[in-house]
Amino acid sequence: MKLSVLKETDAGETRVAIVPKSIAKLTALGFDVTVETNAGASAAFTDADYTNAGASIAHTSKEAIEKSEVIVKINPPSKEDITSLKAGQIWISQLFHRLNEPLIKELEAKGIKGLSLDAMPRISRAQSMDILSSQSNLSGYKAVICGADNLGKIFPMLTTAAGTITPAKVLIFGVGVAGLQAIATAKRLGARVEATDVRPECKEQTESLGAKFITVEGEGVKVEGGYAKEVSAEYLEKQKEAVNKSLAQADLVITTALVQGAKSPILISEEQIGLMKNGAVIVDMAVAKGGNTALSKADETVIHNGVKIVGVSNFPAQIPTNASELLSRNIDTFLSHLVSEGSFKWDMEDEITTETLVTAKV
Ligand code: NAI
Repeated sequence: MKLSVLKETDAGETRVAIVPKSIAKLTALGFDVTVETNAGASAAFTDADYTNAGASIAHTSKEAIEKSEVIVKINPPSKEDITSLKAGQIWISQLFHRLNEPLIKELEAKGIKGLSLDAMPRISRAQSMDILSSQSNLSGYKAVICGADNLGKIFPMLTTAAGTITPAKVLIFGVGVAGLQAIATAKRLGARVEATDVRPECKEQTESLGAKFITVEGEGVKVEGGYAKEVSAEYLEKQKEAVNKSLAQADLVITTALVQGAKSPILISEEQIGLMKNGAVIVDMAVAKGGNTALSKADETVIHNGVKIVGVSNFPAQIPTNASELLSRNIDTFLSHLVSEGSFKWDMEDEITTETLVTAKV
């Protein structure tokens, strides 16, 4: 079976879906791999790295698409990609199918099977294939580094001949994949860290990393399968009261709150930003889904009363080498799950297959 890896075309995207290290695994699965020229260039993987690993190079995306049965990319297909696609091909990328009905209909109309990487169920056996988790983990680290970079202070306590510097105070909203890594990173850099989440089990996880958990006493949270599904307005009010003291003292706030299938909840109002210290920084990781503060803007830094609100929508693109390595491992594991003896199994009893196959079922 022929498989092509395309160069990403979205603005600001620097990652590549498959790195040279995965080529041997894909070959062992029965794939003959072609990589579009320069697909890995911005993640520090050259065409020679791919050919040395056993792949061939295509000069254009059209050529790569036309010669393969399976096409892999990180982001959804561009208009040009769709034009080159032909009936019977299998497209693998993020498709964001719940927000992208016209795209899914277009793929279906062309007879393309679309497997959506962002639709991976969050179950233990799919963990190694879950690109959202692998990318969130790295992003939690990078968000702290970004916050540190924007702050006019250092993180650790420092005793010097010129006086003592007290440790920075970091407050994290949302103790999921990104939040846990943000806590660990901020602790490693020497900050005092507090965190809050609607899920009570996060208290123990937060404390195990040496941070303090802020418990919100309140009802109105629905949690399903490890995801917050619904958070009531009443709970969000109680949360404001519980966090305001910490917010007023924080040097850096990182927001990572996600309610599955919904716009990001606003956890920090404009009034609350007004309570914060001059020079404090908020890094809003949820900005691509609307943001966790009232003033966040995607890929912009807003300054309000001396507080910087930094909205970065694609942290993984700032660390493309590691981000691509983890993505590639997720995708080659996914393919090894789907394929047996050189062909796709299409096991419709398997939750991983049924959840990710977002075009009309086979
Ligand atoms: P996750 O689902 O593992 O964690 C989200 C956490 O938010 C959950 O623990 C949930 O209980 C919590 N939460 C929901 N409502 C809350 C509330 N009102 N107060 C406190 N906590 C609340 O998600 P993950 O993978 O950690 O991603 C977090 C966010 O970061 C998502 O919005 C994701 O899209 C975004 N993200 C952004 C990136 C970027 O480059 N900016 C990269 C990767 C992820």
